[in-house]
Amino acid sequence: MDWGMANRMARLIQPDGHCMFLPIDHGYFQGPTRMLEQPGETIKPLLPYADALFVTRGVLRAVVDPALDKPVILRMSGGTSMVGADLANEGITTSMDDAVRLNVAAVGISVFIGTEFEKESLLNLGKLVDEGEKYGIPVMAVTAVGKELEKRDARYLSLCTRICAELGAKVVKTYWCEDFGKVVGGCPVPVVMAGGPQADTEREVLEFVKDGMDNGSIGINLGRNIWQSEHPVPMIRALRHIVHENGTVAEAQEVFDSVKAGNGRVASVPA
Ligand code: 5RP
Repeated sequence: MDWGMANRMARLIQPDGHCMFLPIDHGYFQGPTRMLEQPGETIKPLLPYADALFVTRGVLRAVVDPALDKPVILRMSGGTSMVGADLANEGITTSMDDAVRLNVAAVGISVFIGTEFEKESLLNLGKLVDEGEKYGIPVMAVTAVGKELEKRDARYLSLCTRICAELGAKVVKTYWCEDFGKVVGGCPVPVVMAGGPQADTEREVLEFVKDGMDNGSIGINLGRNIWQSEHPVPMIRALRHIVHENGTVAEAQEVFDSVKAGNGRVASVPA
C-alpha cells in the first residue's frame, strides 16, 4: 500500500485496530433527519469521542470547522431521495478532485445489491476505487440502505460485503445481524457496523455492537442510535468503551448511566 493510502487508513483505524466513525450523511436522501436539523450543533459534543466524521461535502463546508482535528470520510454517492422513484438509482455526486481539495481521509459510496440498480452502483464503486487509488484515498463501501434493510441476514450481508471487497473497497460498512461472524469471515477487508433506525433501548445497541466486535468487526459507523438517543453523549461514550476498551455490555451500561447522571468519570472503568 502506498504511503498516502496507508497514512489515511492509519488515521481512520486507531492503533488498537478499531474505529468509531460518526455518520451524519443521512440528509443526502432524507432531508433534515430528526436531530440532524442543525448538524453542526448535533456533532459538537460528540466529536471528542468519534474517530472520524462521515459527511457530505455540503454539510462539511457549511457547518464543520476547518480546524477539525478528526479525519473526514466524504460521501460521494447520491442523486436520489426518499420520495423519489427508487433510492437505489444513485450516481456519483462528488468528484475526486473535490475530495482532495477537502483533504479527506476516505470516501464513501452506497451499493444496492439485489436491486434493479445493482450493476450501476457496483460499477460506480469500481470507478471510485480507480479514482481513489490514483490519489491514495481509500473507499468505504456502504451496503444495504433503505429497502435493502429488509434483507438484514448473514447470507445477504455476506454477499454484499464480499462483493464490495472484491471490487476494491478498503473498508465495508454493513449492518449487524445474527451470525455476524459469517459476514466478517467472508470479507477480506475490515467491516464496520451501522445501526439503522433507532432501537427501542440503548441496551439493545450496546448488545449488538458488543456481539459484532466479538465476531470480528473493527468498529462502528453508527449514527441514529447515537444522535437520536435522548442521551447522545452517554451513548457514544458507552459505545466507545466497548469498541476501544473491549468493555462488556454491563460496563458500557455503567458508563452510560454514570455519564447520564452527570459523572464524567466512572469508578470501575477508564474514562
Ligand atoms: C446513510 C448511511 C449512514 O452513514 C449509515 O446508515 C449509518 O447510519 P445509521 O447508524 O443511522 O444507520 O450510509 O445512508
